[in-house]
Order: sequence, then structure tokens, then C-alpha cells
Amino acid sequence: MSTSRFAQRLIDWQRWHGRHDLPWQRTREPYPVWLAEIMLQQTQVVTVIPYYERFLGRFPTLASLAAAPVEDVMALWSGLGYYARARNLHRCAQRVMAEHGGEFPRNPVAIAALPGIGRSTANAIAVFCFGAREPILDGNVKRLLCRCLGIKGYPGTPAVESRLWQDGAALLPDTEVDAYIQAQMDLGATICTRSKPHCTDCPVADLCVAYRDKRVTELPTPRPKRAVPEKAMTLLVLCMDSRVLLETRPPAGIWGGLLSLPELPEGEDAAHYCEQQLGLRTGAVVPAPTFTHSLTHFRLEISPLVCEVYIRPQAMEAGLRWLERAELAQVALPAPIRKLLARV
Ligand code: ADE
Repeated sequence: MSTSRFAQRLIDWQRWHGRHDLPWQRTREPYPVWLAEIMLQQTQVVTVIPYYERFLGRFPTLASLAAAPVEDVMALWSGLGYYARARNLHRCAQRVMAEHGGEFPRNPVAIAALPGIGRSTANAIAVFCFGAREPILDGNVKRLLCRCLGIKGYPGTPAVESRLWQDGAALLPDTEVDAYIQAQMDLGATICTRSKPHCTDCPVADLCVAYRDKRVTELPTPRPKRAVPEKAMTLLVLCMDSRVLLETRPPAGIWGGLLSLPELPEGEDAAHYCEQQLGLRTGAVVPAPTFTHSLTHFRLEISPLVCEVYIRPQAMEAGLRWLERAELAQVALPAPIRKLLARV
């Protein structure tokens, strides 16, 4: 096997344009490299550096980390986010002490069996510390490979991911694997960025399928949007002279505690409901056009029924208020309700 053109270009680029002075590049010791790779999983280099230095200052060895109370580890992680990483880090240190005599295992499969370490992170540690020849596949590398090889489909799916592992392995160079892996990370972070990639500065632009086909903005394929569930709601627009009846929504659920229009329960007849539940005698019930409103987790289909009210009871149910149209501007209403009232 020979080093692919792709890999050679990346290795050459790394020498002149890659990053060489990041704190975790000063060592081949697995403990600090592992710590860096965990911190860098969901966090950018600039954010990680001060946390990394502080963490190593407080826990200079794997043994000191394993012996510390988990609360101290969490406190040092505070602000970095994704706190499961810190809990797993502590657990992992204790496992390495208990099961591996305090020495990090060298085999990528054994490393990946430790808490909080996936296949890609395990391979990165094995490459940087033990000279392994393994591909990595973090978010940056997925993007780089999907674009360069013109791979369609969301890279989070097992089929695409499996293909990326295979292609990633096939592209590995024979030697200088550590420089190549670092180049993939650096190229993904600085050139082949998610938005506005710097293709004119890219060392593999002439090999890149997405660049050739002008599909750089389409690849990698975004995560498919979840189907948004729909909910239906019938609202009563009860009018009397220049006033309209509003009702305070129950505290839990859509628009909890806000004033809104009375909601007609599913399957109820509007005139019957008005008479029995609201004590109102109504005239003709006229449907207004249905419209949809998008909330965070679903789309709401709102069907308004407009009715003239003839008789108003002396005592009103709690939570019901007749408001003059002119008063509507002063109360807090959900946006679609305000829009609806402006229309009818
Ligand atoms: N992101 C993940 N691992 C990294 C590393 N070793 N250097 C720079 N960025 C990274």
C-alpha cells in the first residue's frame, strides 16, 4: 500500500500551516493527551486551553485524578459543559488504576472499552501516544471526507458512518500518521469549516468532489428534520357589541396562564358548550379560516368559530373576562391569538 495523494497533501500542509504548539502537543504521555481529547470533544481549542492547564495543575497525574473526590473534578470542569465527560473521566482514571496497573492500555480496542472513550478518541490517543495506524472520525473529519469524497447522506447514520470508517482507513498514509491525523483535525477546524469554508486555501481542493461539483454548501448532508407533530385546537371568538370573551389558560400546557380565547373541547358542539359551560346564549356559529402556528415541538392547527352572544349571565365563571377591543392592546396575548382577533 502506498500513501494516498490526499494523505501526502495533508501531511505537507500540516508542516507549514497546521498547529504545532497546542499544550497537548508537547507530550506523548497518554494521560494529558487523553484529557485533551476528552475536553476537545464538544469544545473549541480556545475554550479548552485554560481549563486544560488548570486541570493538569491540580491533577498532574492519572493517579492523582483517580484519588480525588468526584466533586473536585466536577468543580474544575464547571463551565465547560457536557458534565458526563467529567464523571466518565474520573471513572476512567479509577478503572485504569484498578484494572491496568495505572498504565493506559496501548491497544485502540482496549482504550475504547474505557468509560467515556469512543472509537475515534481511542484511535487518536493510540496514534498520538503509541504510533498506531488508525483513522479518526470526529465531526471535523466526517465533514472533510464527505466533501472531499462527495459522500451523500447524513453522516450520523450507521450506513454513512460505516462507509466513512472504511474510506478513512483506506486513505491512511504509511508513515507520519500522527501528522496526518493532526492535519485532518486542523484542516477541519480552520479551512474545511462548516459554514464559509476557505476552499481557495485548501491543499486538497483539486481532489475535492464537492468543490468540483459546487456542492460544498450541500455536503455533508444535514441531519434529517424530525416530522413535526400537529395538534388541532378549536377556539371560540365570542363577541358581544364591541367586546370579546377571553379566558385564562390553565397553568400547564400551551400558553399556560396567559389570556386566550376559550377553547372548545374536542367533540363538543359550540352552541351547547357555550350554554352549558359558559352560560351564554349564542346566535349562528360561523367558522373562520383555519390557520397553523408553529411552536417549539409541534405545529398547532387553529380553527376559530365566531359567534354573536345574546345573553350574558350576571355571574361569570372564574378566569373569564369580557374585554373591549380597545383594551386588547394592553393585555398579554399569545401572538397567534392577537393576529386572529385583528382579523375577525
Ligand atoms: N480536536 C480534537 N482533538 C484535537 C487535537 N488533538 N488538536 C486540535 N484539535 C482537536
